[in-house]
Amino acid sequence: MEIRRRCRRNRWHASMRGLVRETSISPSDLIYPMFVVEGHGVRREISTMPENYHLSIDMLIRECESLLNLGVKAVNLFGYCADKDDQATSAYDDRGLIPRAIRELKKQLPEIYVQTDIALDPYTNHGHDGLVVDGEIVNDATNEVLARMAVCHANAGVDMVSPSDMMDGRVGAIRQALDQAGHPYVAIMAYSAKYASCFYGPFRGALDSAPKSGDKKTYQMDPANRREALKEIALDIEEGADVVMVKPAIAYLDIIAEARAQFDVPIAAYHVSGEYGMILAAAEKGWLDKERAMIETTTAIKRAGADMILTYFAPALARYLKMRV
Ligand code: PBG
Repeated sequence: MEIRRRCRRNRWHASMRGLVRETSISPSDLIYPMFVVEGHGVRREISTMPENYHLSIDMLIRECESLLNLGVKAVNLFGYCADKDDQATSAYDDRGLIPRAIRELKKQLPEIYVQTDIALDPYTNHGHDGLVVDGEIVNDATNEVLARMAVCHANAGVDMVSPSDMMDGRVGAIRQALDQAGHPYVAIMAYSAKYASCFYGPFRGALDSAPKSGDKKTYQMDPANRREALKEIALDIEEGADVVMVKPAIAYLDIIAEARAQFDVPIAAYHVSGEYGMILAAAEKGWLDKERAMIETTTAIKRAGADMILTYFAPALARYLKMRV
């Protein structure tokens, strides 16, 4: 039999496989989402998200120090808010948990890139990302609060804000407010194509932020839609987004790939809590190897076209990558 093109030749030797590898992951591609709580000396494992922790500000600093040593240079902060109300007033309190965390982090570890989530759900008693009036999640009034929250974080020294609420026009509103407040270099990573997904469950457990009634389908996208994602991304770029995001990641690789093909801005993908949890749970049952699943999944997200990945695997992945060199 004459076979002239043998693909297996390029797979024959481990070193050759290294030479032909098209995608690689480095710790500098990763953003680690972290959960800040009040207190001192607190480092409590989150029950819905094993190997991830509720951290008081002092412990957050320690954790970030070890992340930097591993080569992970960016973090995304979420704050646990016990003081919830219907106006989300804690969301833009200058002395609130997140502004204090930003100040301390930027003071002690100026080399770490600090990003914060902008949305009202951890701060509202109803658990929605926007203000609720007569049972409806109102858009434009919410944008004003989001812009206030973003400026509050910028005043504390944040490097980038990440609106995750999916209100219309919020990127433009935030950009304008930041510029007016004298923060032209605070960047915006827009959760542009954020789907109404079941995969946020463990995260909502971590922040006690699940909606008390209804769901998020009037603002987050229908998982069945692709064209609509491209429209959302185009609008966010127009409004001034510096980075656009697709979320979740592994069930939406086609969206990442299409966005990569159509737009020239950096693309982020959020490998969300439920995707993380699926791998951990299956590994616990002995059904798959956790490390290999972690590498394969994050590599696939990058191969699809993501420049950067928000993942709860960031520390484990960076440790694994360090061990291999
Ligand atoms: C807040 C927010 C959510 C996530 C990130 N920011 C939850 C939600 O929209 O309900 C999910 C992250 C994850 O599941 O890992 N708007």
